Amino acid sequence: MPTAVITGASQGLGRATARALAERGWSLVVDARHAAELAAAVRGLTAVTAIPGDVTDPAHRARIATAISPAGRLDLLINNASRLGPSPQPVLRRYPLAELGQVYQTNVLAPLALIQLLGGPLTAAGGTVVNVSSDAAADAYPGWGGYGSAKAALDQLTAVLAAEEPALRCYAFDPGDMRTALHQQAFPGEDISDRPEPEVAAAALLRLLGERPPSGRYRASDYPAAGLEQSPAVAR
Ligand SMILES: NC(=O)c1ccc[n+]([C@@H]2O[C@H](COP(=O)([O-])OP(=O)(O)OC[C@H]3O[C@@H](n4cnc5c(N)ncnc54)[C@H](OP(=O)(O)O)[C@@H]3O)[C@@H](O)[C@H]2O)c1
Repeated sequence: MPTAVITGASQGLGRATARALAERGWSLVVDARHAAELAAAVRGLTAVTAIPGDVTDPAHRARIATAISPAGRLDLLINNASRLGPSPQPVLRRYPLAELGQVYQTNVLAPLALIQLLGGPLTAAGGTVVNVSSDAAADAYPGWGGYGSAKAALDQLTAVLAAEEPALRCYAFDPGDMRTALHQQAFPGEDISDRPEPEVAAAALLRLLGERPPSGRYRASDYPAAGLEQSPAVAR
C-alpha cells in the first residue's frame, strides 16, 4: 500500500488531496494544528493517521516520522501547510520581521526539516516530494513580498533538492487560485466565490503524480481535467 505524509490536511488543498489519495487506497499520515477540524476532515477514511500539531515544532515532526515507522515505507511527502502572514498583507517597508520569521519557519524551514527527517524512507522507495508553491513565488505583486519570497525560497530549495537527489522526484506545485481560508485571508472582505474549489487543483496534482514527469515546477493548469475550462488566474 503506497504511503504519503500530507501537511495541512484539515481543509483546502491538503484535505482534498488526502481524501482523493485515501479513496485510491493510499495509507496516509496527515497533520494540522487544530485537532477537531483535522479529525473531522479524515472521518470515514481508512488507513489515515491524523497527528495534530504545528509543522514548525520539531517534536511534532518527530511524531510524524514515528507514525510512518510501522509500515517502514514512504512514497510521497506533500509539504502543503502554509502561513500567509498578516492580513491584509503589509508592504515590505512595513513588514513586521518577527511575523516574517514565522512565515519562513512554516513555509520554508519546516518543509526542509520534514524532507531531512523523511529523506531516508523516501529515497528507499524512489519517492516524491511535493512542495506546494504559489504564483507569488514567481511574480511580484505589491503586498506579497513576505509570503511570496518564502514560496520563492521553497521553489529554489525544491530545484536544488532535485539536482542533489536523482533518486527522488521533487516538484514545486503551484495550485493556482483556490476558494479556501488562506485565499480569503489574502483578500479580506472580497467575494472569492468565483475561485475554483481546491478539489480542482487536487485532481491536477493527482494527474501530475500519476504521470510522474521529471522533477521541476508545475502548475495545476498544466494538468487540466479533460474538457474542463480553466478559470483565469486572479491571485496567488
Ligand atoms: N488558496 C489559494 O488560492 C492558493 C494559491 C496558491 C498557493 N496556495 C498554497 O496551497 C497550499 C494550501 O493552501 P490552502 O489555500 O488549501 O490553505 P487552507 O485552506 O488555509 O488550509 C491550510 C491547511 O494547513 C494547516 N496549517 C496551517 N499552518 C500549519 C502549521 N503551522 N502546521 C500544521 N498545519 C498547518 C491548516 O490547519 P490548521 O489551521 O488547523 O493548522 C489547514 O489544514 C498552501 O501551501 C498555499 O500556500 C494556495
